[in-house]
Amino acid sequence: MTITAIYPGTFDPITNGHIDLVERGAKLFERLIVGVAAFPSPSKKPTFSNEERLELASIAVEHVPNVEVKAFDTLLAHFVRNERAQVILRGLRAVSDFEYEFQLASMNRQLIQDVETVFLTPAEQYAYISSSLVREVAALGGNIEQFVHPRVARALSARLRG
Ligand code: COA
Repeated sequence: MTITAIYPGTFDPITNGHIDLVERGAKLFERLIVGVAAFPSPSKKPTFSNEERLELASIAVEHVPNVEVKAFDTLLAHFVRNERAQVILRGLRAVSDFEYEFQLASMNRQLIQDVETVFLTPAEQYAYISSSLVREVAALGGNIEQFVHPRVARALSARLRG
């Protein structure tokens, strides 16, 4: 049986930490779908549009085999069901991620049974990266090339610094 995993996120923008997780996930699952959410948590107001986040994520992971990047504008549970996926993949960087991830996994289990959330940890050098910190560094003129794909770095500089 082919195991399909979905790695959902806002990806505003995709960072090297996300890419690291995609590379790890692609080794574990026959098919990995990076799901770019049109409706992230209500507290997030993305800097990039849905189309831009999808495009940047696609460019950043194009070197990884057996990975597709798709946008979804539904409940994650419905996207998972439509794709006939068996696994939701999420990254855990630190203990601080755990409470939110536990809630998300539990809610998704209520909404769609028979789907397991699997957590992977990114490489240590990415444990402190977050999209919002990268955006902040870029907005204030810091060098972000070590944190994101070069195309993402260009897009961020253009967006945040004009
Ligand atoms: N390396 C580096 N950073 C990472 C990372 C990794 N491996 N994994 C996560 N992050 C960071 C991100 O940069 C991001 O940082 P930020 O908060 O500063 O922007 C943060 O951790 C989490 O972002 P992301 O991984 O993009 O996921 P998310 O938490 O925004 O995703 C969804 C949440 C999209 C999965 C959730 O809102 C959802 O399912 N939405 C669809 C609608 C729905 O079904 N809602 C009900 C859910 S039960």
